[in-house]
Amino acid sequence: MQYGFFDDDAREYVITRPDTPYPWINYLGCEEFFGLFSNTSGGYCFCRDARMLRLTRYRYNNVPADAGGRYFYLRDGTDVWTPSWMPMKSKLDRYECRHGMGYSKISSSRNGLAFTQVSFVPLGDNCEIHKVTLTNESGAEKNIDMFSFVEFCLWNANDDMTNFQRNFSIGEVEIESQLAGSSRIYHKTEYRERRNHYAVWSVNAATAGFDTDRQAFLGLYNGFDSPQTPFNGKANNSVASGWAPIGSHHIKVKLAPNESKTFVFTLGFCENPQDQKWEKPGIINKAPANKLLEKYNTAEAADKALAELNAYWKNLLGKFTVDASSLSRPDDIKMARMAGVWNQYQCMVTFNMSRSASYFESGIGRGMGFRDSNQDLLGFVHLVPERARSRILDIAATQFPDGSAYHQYQPLTKRGNNEVGSGFNDDPLWLICGVAAYIKETGDYSILNEKVPFDNDEKLADTLFIHLKRSFDFTVTHKGPHGLPLIGRADWNDCLNLNCFSAAPGESFQTTANFESGVAESVLIAAIFAFVGPDYVEICKRANRADEAAYAEKEIKTMTDAINQHGWDGDWFVRAYDAYGKKIGGKECDDGKIFIESNGFAVMAGIGVDDGRAAKALDSVKEHLDSKYGIVLLQPAYKNYHLELGEVSSYPPGYKENAGIFCHNNPWVTIAETMLGRGTRAFETYAKICPAYREDDSDLRRLEPYVYAQMVAGKDAPRHGEAKNSWLTGTAAWTFVSISQYILGVRPVFDGLLIDPCIPSAMKGFTVTRHFRGADYHITVDNSAGAEKGIKSITIDGKAQEGNVLPIFNDGKIHKIMVIMG
Ligand code: BGC
Ligand code: NOJ
Repeated sequence: MQYGFFDDDAREYVITRPDTPYPWINYLGCEEFFGLFSNTSGGYCFCRDARMLRLTRYRYNNVPADAGGRYFYLRDGTDVWTPSWMPMKSKLDRYECRHGMGYSKISSSRNGLAFTQVSFVPLGDNCEIHKVTLTNESGAEKNIDMFSFVEFCLWNANDDMTNFQRNFSIGEVEIESQLAGSSRIYHKTEYRERRNHYAVWSVNAATAGFDTDRQAFLGLYNGFDSPQTPFNGKANNSVASGWAPIGSHHIKVKLAPNESKTFVFTLGFCENPQDQKWEKPGIINKAPANKLLEKYNTAEAADKALAELNAYWKNLLGKFTVDASSLSRPDDIKMARMAGVWNQYQCMVTFNMSRSASYFESGIGRGMGFRDSNQDLLGFVHLVPERARSRILDIAATQFPDGSAYHQYQPLTKRGNNEVGSGFNDDPLWLICGVAAYIKETGDYSILNEKVPFDNDEKLADTLFIHLKRSFDFTVTHKGPHGLPLIGRADWNDCLNLNCFSAAPGESFQTTANFESGVAESVLIAAIFAFVGPDYVEICKRANRADEAAYAEKEIKTMTDAINQHGWDGDWFVRAYDAYGKKIGGKECDDGKIFIESNGFAVMAGIGVDDGRAAKALDSVKEHLDSKYGIVLLQPAYKNYHLELGEVSSYPPGYKENAGIFCHNNPWVTIAETMLGRGTRAFETYAKICPAYREDDSDLRRLEPYVYAQMVAGKDAPRHGEAKNSWLTGTAAWTFVSISQYILGVRPVFDGLLIDPCIPSAMKGFTVTRHFRGADYHITVDNSAGAEKGIKSITIDGKAQEGNVLPIFNDGKIHKIMVIMG
């Protein structure tokens, strides 16, 4: 069944009942300050780094789920309720949550009292705004007591949930409750020592009281669902000293029939220069808070900030649009709303978050992934190319001089993460992939001349071009017995740990190498090399490095030969060779006979396209790996743990990398299918994992129908079709690439915008707009011929065009492109 619907005009997903099968969340913020916000007002926020600068506390593993948020308790007579349903699970007469582009809006009502909460992070400031409106829809006057509630995190989210012997003694707050028209609670734990930032939770109204001590507010042994203070109808004016600091305002609201009152709550992050921390001894300098809060002190100011955010997103999503009215098949509207709106929105989120903070990633573990962030760029670069540019430079700076790379880096320090280290031998190649995408989008070759440190050491700095060369050379110089790249700790599949040999419970599969065989090889890395290599060659040529281009071409040929010789198993591509030189992903294997990754990528690289092996490989993928909900990663699933394979065989069959539908690599098959011109099958693989196509199946899928999930349980799992790990997944970028660049076929290339659609023959055509290098391309594709691929003619502004690469106009104008397939 469905729990809501897409409001396409508003670009919102409207959740119509609060008890979704899992919290369905949104992300507030797209610059430095971020909030995770669920459909019941759960979640938390942080500035810049989810681990180091966490403002509010969230309880993982809590029952019920989703505990912690920005809550409002309403006391109407003796009736106390929470209008976001949670945490009291209050019975509501009306409920709706609209998740939009960077904002969410919860509306509800009970006993004639209506509530709306509009929550967002304004552009340019480090704060969340929650604009709350109460309306008396009853015929009689109402006297409401409203209590806000946030619980502060003691900044470092990891320490916050582990180091209680210290934590319970360090919490500190300041309170300004007597200001005219404003009431402010400051959370200043650790400000007395090395921090120069604090949080403020304010409302633009006079208050009847406050609480800053959790126990005073909740009462002993009470949870968020049964707080004492709202039932008492009176705040305690508690001042936290250690234990658990919170922020709660008590506001008395008198409402005549039909009267509304609006309050602007702001949760801000404020920083002071080191020498200006104090106003007077022990009293924090409130200048940055004053500035921030004055800015958002009225409902009008909050509305204006929201309007600016809306305009920002309208402009961003204007860079690639799909005209739903141009689509002949009713179901294609699902593709249009994903490709045109939600998929791009998710790409922004993955670009910002990498894999750090979601309802499946705790925000304390992983920083930015080297491979992840490079791939995230692919779906983001058309939105804000300048940010993609600086991200590339940050990532490249964590590369080692030999071309290998830190697997992860921390966003706050931008330094490589020593705990995880390096040794994932696919990592270097993704840098070439990301840079090529950036240059194709922008034509900005100057990035190649940027001086970028190695290992964050300025003394080792060299041009970005040299970084690319080191990436390329790393693969060339790290090959095994079959001439295929050594896998190292793992390749794209973090769970193929072929040198790990871990028998000790709890040992990290990612960092353990008990048997550095020096022989385990990856066919996938070879295929990635063959796919990104030609882009490297083009970059070399354009950077006037003909010799390097010739060398690279030779190496790509050598690698392709190795794949042809040792990477083909008869009906599909092999996946890898293990530490004993035995095949993984071959017919002779008991389990794991066939894997998705090497097949998708080898065909993407064009291998076997001319001699029928590519088609055979994709047919094998369909025959052995396809399912109702997408293509599983491998078959047969590993039944037992294999020392020589590592984490992949640790999962129960059908989950995660062990034969789950690992959505990230499905679009590789989609793209591969388009390389063969098989548009109907390409679209089928696209639609199977596309969440909007499963909206009415939410009880099984469980997760948000507006965003991709990393994994859907495979056919071997008892819960086949159930999704996990929504939002932060490379699926976002790759599906956007697959649908926009390969199915709809509007693809930036070095010299222009390539038009090369590959669609189902039943799709009669479509219209998209694409902003590209300073002009807007309004592209209409006519497929009345019922083709799957192939173009009969193209006209630009009425004039016939030779070939299918549209020129770079860069004239700020709209150009009308008419494409006839056939
Ligand atoms: C997961 C992988 C992930 C890795 C990252 C593993 O447990 O299965 O999907 O890439 O952790 O550390
Ligand atoms: C998730 C990780 O973030 C990504 O880097 C990896 O490629 C996939 N899992 C597959 O293991």
